[in-house]
Amino acid sequence: MKAKNDRILIFDTTLRDGEQCPGASMNLREKLEVARQLGRLKVDVIEAGFPVISKGDFEAVQTIAKQVKGPIITGLARCVSRDIDAAAEAVKPAGKKGRIHVFLATSKIHREYKLGKVEDEIIRLAVQAVKRARGHVKDVEFSPEDGSRTEPDFLIRVCRAAIDAGATTINIPDTVGFAVPDEFGALIHQLYESIPEFQSGKAIISVHCHNDLGLAVANSLSALRNGARQIECTVNGIGERAGNASLEEVVMALKTRGDFFKGFNCGVNTREIVKSSKLVSRMSGLVVQRSKAIVGENAFAHSSGIHQDGILKKRETYEIMDPHDVGWGQTQLPLTKHSGRAAVTARLKHLGFKMTDADVTAIFAKYKEIGDKKKFVYDEDLIALVEGQITEVPETWSLDYLTVTSGNHTLPTATVRLRKAGQNKKDAELIQDAGLGDGPVDAALKTIDRLTKTRGKLLDYSIRAVSQGKDALGEVTIKVNFGKGKLVTGRGASTDIIEASALAYLNAVNRHLWAGKQSSEAVPQP
Ligand code: KIV
Ligand code: ZN
Repeated sequence: MKAKNDRILIFDTTLRDGEQCPGASMNLREKLEVARQLGRLKVDVIEAGFPVISKGDFEAVQTIAKQVKGPIITGLARCVSRDIDAAAEAVKPAGKKGRIHVFLATSKIHREYKLGKVEDEIIRLAVQAVKRARGHVKDVEFSPEDGSRTEPDFLIRVCRAAIDAGATTINIPDTVGFAVPDEFGALIHQLYESIPEFQSGKAIISVHCHNDLGLAVANSLSALRNGARQIECTVNGIGERAGNASLEEVVMALKTRGDFFKGFNCGVNTREIVKSSKLVSRMSGLVVQRSKAIVGENAFAHSSGIHQDGILKKRETYEIMDPHDVGWGQTQLPLTKHSGRAAVTARLKHLGFKMTDADVTAIFAKYKEIGDKKKFVYDEDLIALVEGQITEVPETWSLDYLTVTSGNHTLPTATVRLRKAGQNKKDAELIQDAGLGDGPVDAALKTIDRLTKTRGKLLDYSIRAVSQGKDALGEVTIKVNFGKGKLVTGRGASTDIIEASALAYLNAVNRHLWAGKQSSEAVPQP
């Protein structure tokens, strides 16, 4: 059974569901860079955030709606008037490309225990919300949350009512990742057969699958074969808990297995996939597993001699996709310390970054510093510098001086001097201290804690070489809990890994202090 139109819409929710991943929160500049890249990737819809949730989310959705042209821009809303009005206001700059996405839980367990509402009340609220959203925009999506665990007859009733009220997309979420492919496909088939608007193309079925059982992509593909025409997914599969269906896996399954998914096509520019993956990983601080399909470092690495031999004779013996088709292997000649500002600016533009003059000046200064320490400056080094610039929050604290002694016969000791920003530059204050730790990194971080009067609990620490060679920049990503349960990510890069660790920790401290100033209205997230 097939729907009339075989064009599959790719709805990217990296900036909404993806950002719900603990410690993945991004600032406005980071979100904007990701959204611009999603534009280059040519996704059909960008879910840019949940506008009512905080001033920051509202501003991000509004800015993306203003600046990212091409995809439809949507904001999430509960079936509550102020959520819907906030979403409408935020997506307004997108004009006809603005969508409002409203959701309400429909399963028995959510009705009884979470909402305390009976079926008719759910239908009344859904209809009222869709109508209110339609008062603002023509493009309204409705999601019956926990749809896959909702009684099919009630699910059909709710979806019918939402379509009658004006919804043009009905998204069936497998909110807790409980579904299995055949069963989920059958549910989508039943919906498609029961609702004439899906058959006539007046409304489309979308799916939103979570990966708790590792089945999000399989469930999404099964849904396509049963009438769904929009897939909600995220770059690298990031998202709540075990994440969402991974965009790159869905898109490449459709492309690589075009023989099986006959006729289906999507508009994604697959050559932008690796770049998107790397950007999202850096911006969110969520490291991509090496063996992750399509975008992991090992996805196209063949170590067995038999495989290597086969590949050399004919690539297709062991490779089902051409790595170039997803954007691997596009690195250009590295820059050197002799490259001037114009060369660096041109390379930044080539890499897709839209930088102000002030940004370029700051990046160029750091570029010169690492150019003195490294023979070559690779694209990855440059991207790390850009990201350092983008992720920068006001620097309440900055590193002025660091020295560490460590070894197998000495107690690790760090001496740290920090600069505390004042109202004016001349008011900046320098303070210093020294301390011991269980290793050089621990000694440096403990000393920073004492100086800044913060007490962070380090929950995660990872280090990677940004580019090639023994002189490569080391990039440290850390996740810190400063006591209010919210994880803060910090990043720092340097040719010295202890300095990179101290910079990453200070970045987390500054982000924590900055977040405290940006008081936000707390709304429970879906
Ligand atoms: O997982 C879910 O149910 C959601 C909805 C808001 C679509 O994210
Ligand atoms: Zn979700």
